[in-house]
Amino acid sequence: MASIVAGVATSHVPAIGVAIDQGKTGEPYWQPLFRGYEKSQAWMAALKPDVAIVVYNDHANAFSLEVIPTFALGCASEYAPADEGWGRRPVPPVVGHPELAWHLAQALILDEFDISIVNRMEVDHGLTVPLSLLFGTPAAWPCPVIPLCVNVVQYPPPTGRRCFKLGRAIRKAVASFDRDLRVVVFGTGGMSHQLQGERAGLINAEFDRRFLDAIVADPQAATAIPHVEYLREAGSEGIELVMWLIMRGALDERVREVHRHYHVPASNTAVGHLILENFPATNQERTP
Ligand code: DHB
Ligand code: FE
Repeated sequence: MASIVAGVATSHVPAIGVAIDQGKTGEPYWQPLFRGYEKSQAWMAALKPDVAIVVYNDHANAFSLEVIPTFALGCASEYAPADEGWGRRPVPPVVGHPELAWHLAQALILDEFDISIVNRMEVDHGLTVPLSLLFGTPAAWPCPVIPLCVNVVQYPPPTGRRCFKLGRAIRKAVASFDRDLRVVVFGTGGMSHQLQGERAGLINAEFDRRFLDAIVADPQAATAIPHVEYLREAGSEGIELVMWLIMRGALDERVREVHRHYHVPASNTAVGHLILENFPATNQERTP
């Protein structure tokens, strides 16, 4: 049977992608940020997952304001990179896993999560920057990816509690897939940042550190954070953090924190990163 072996949380700041693409990762501004991902890339290379489910948000590249799905699951066999701002990143196309994706669509919808099924979609920095941070710069991404796109751009986004429950349902759905696949789940976006308005540039390291602690050890406390608290404490784009709760819901109740990194600033954003593993006792498929 398939199983979820680990979870990764990371910010997806577009300027990080540009720094990678333009060979600037060793520059003094960027070096401390990328140093925090060196262990992560070694860990991921050793883990060798069969599939990555990447929970991310689109920034009006795949979906305009004409159609705003709350949860959109990619069931395609391939996704082309696209982006606003600095433009399309020179990264490989993202290969999908239609078989597992369609299984997830069926299992989740029959489990009363009314997700949208997407058969054609482009993916922006929200998805490709986390891939670059964890997989580096390969000629082809090392495993298929199932994109799960969450609306955190247009009010109302889903609640943290709903996201956590969706994670739980994803865990159950993966476990009912009849093939031995080791799956890693990414929760992306955040941490505190606000890109416009009077409070543009807001960063709240105290809130971010409390959130990192809660995601690891007390996710129920994190699910109780209302939208207005994200907005007040983590800025308008801090709401992206609800996507981390989908990843966390997909893991066991107790997890092992393998790695943590927090860095301020990257562009206008606080960058946070966690690697969490399920305990081997409750997951026999985990690699040593
Ligand atoms: C920026 C954009 C984002 O989508 C994000 O999540 C963080 C930062 C930016 O433009 O700096
Ligand atoms: Fe974003």
